Amino acid sequence: MANYIPEPFRIKMVEKIKMLTKEERAEKIKATDYNLFGLRSEDVYIDLLTDSGTGAMSSEQWGGLMRGDEAYAGSKSYYNLIEAGKEIFGYEYIQPVHQGRAGEQVIFPLYLDKGKFAISNTFFDTTRAHVELTGARAIDCVIEAAKNPAVRAPFKGNMDIPKLEKLINDLGVENVGLIVLTITNNSAGGQPVSMENIRATSEVCKKYGLILELDCARFAENAYFIKRDEPGYQNKSIHEIVREMFSHADMFHMSSKKDAIVNMGGVLGVKDANHPAIPGIKANCVSYEGFYTYGGLSGRDMEALAIGLFEGTDEDFLRYRIGQAEYLAALLDEAGIIYQSPAGGHGLFIDAAAMLPQIPYYEFPAQVLAIELYKEAGIRTCDIGSFMMGNNPDTGEQIKSDFEFTRFAIPRRVYTQAHFDIMAEALISIKNRAHTIKRGLKITWEPPVLRHFQAKLEYI
Ligand code: F0G
Repeated sequence: MANYIPEPFRIKMVEKIKMLTKEERAEKIKATDYNLFGLRSEDVYIDLLTDSGTGAMSSEQWGGLMRGDEAYAGSKSYYNLIEAGKEIFGYEYIQPVHQGRAGEQVIFPLYLDKGKFAISNTFFDTTRAHVELTGARAIDCVIEAAKNPAVRAPFKGNMDIPKLEKLINDLGVENVGLIVLTITNNSAGGQPVSMENIRATSEVCKKYGLILELDCARFAENAYFIKRDEPGYQNKSIHEIVREMFSHADMFHMSSKKDAIVNMGGVLGVKDANHPAIPGIKANCVSYEGFYTYGGLSGRDMEALAIGLFEGTDEDFLRYRIGQAEYLAALLDEAGIIYQSPAGGHGLFIDAAAMLPQIPYYEFPAQVLAIELYKEAGIRTCDIGSFMMGNNPDTGEQIKSDFEFTRFAIPRRVYTQAHFDIMAEALISIKNRAHTIKRGLKITWEPPVLRHFQAKLEYI
């Protein structure tokens, strides 16, 4: 039985959305060359393209916007953000940046260049791109259990520790620039990393003298899963668990557009105020983002972000939030639809390869399913599969992704139970006619980096 955990808030402000006809939607998606990023949001009924920057801010955060201090240097809002960051993460150095990938651009060149490797449980697309932009290469090292969506297992986001050590030895430790732990593991289905695995990854890094960096856009969701599923953490608070998670790493970058529930913002942090990376971080920030006390953000953005760090780590909020993905998952279980199981933190990742086995990876089944969902019910999702992975930067060949997921990323505090029922109905309707979907897609134009945002496609 699907159980919906009620919202721990009430709604103060709403936005109108409209429903086009199926015929209108078929025209609209064709006009984008079958790229959902090309749609106008006003032509979307339920927008699950991403949970990034799409959350609803609270009245406290909107109030914070009015208090934002817009001084160029040393603003009050900067200090509020620094205090919040120090308290939440327990790190001595906190630095605003304008979003997650800006943090990547600031930190990665300090440790990576041509000939070097970065290893992660799974790199997210922009993170992989920023590794490659330095000239280095990105290697994923997630546990095997993650690769079987139908198998329900806790902490499927974990790093494969024996494989990590083998990789370091095979590549040569001097060629490994950075170990990045992505929490939660977005591309593997919003799956969490256990505290034990964070600790074990940290021990490997210490043994080889490597930096452990957290890509922690969804750190609060990860902490909630640890509290729920990892033995020994049931009586700890989310705040204690977050502190412990971060105590094992050296530094982090965070897209705050997710768990800090702001529409724009990012933070990076270094545990030790005397860490040798800090002068380089400040210098890169000044060059690319702006002076280090605003890092590409307005004072008001920093104010909302400081408040959001606390709201996003509230346990009642997290229970409701994770509960939404679980509610949808329970509806899909009843219909036999396969998804990365259990439900992820920021949404559900539908196994498009299982639903459309007739479409091979190089014809992008997860993108085909995403287009069907838009045509069926005006739902916008995205491909987290071979279409997103792109081509091997050395050979130019299409990469075969471990997963062909169509991602239902759930914006925070935005959609209600009835919207989730519509999502399930649309998927069930497509599943019932999935065998009639014969044609895959081919790319007619693509840019060299992060192609899925802009590529043009057509049906074969
Ligand atoms: N790291 C992870 C794990 C992410 O999920 C994202 C963004 C980033 C880094 C980059 O952050 O967008 O603020 O520059 N993920 C979004 C998504 C875009 O849809 O999953 P950003």
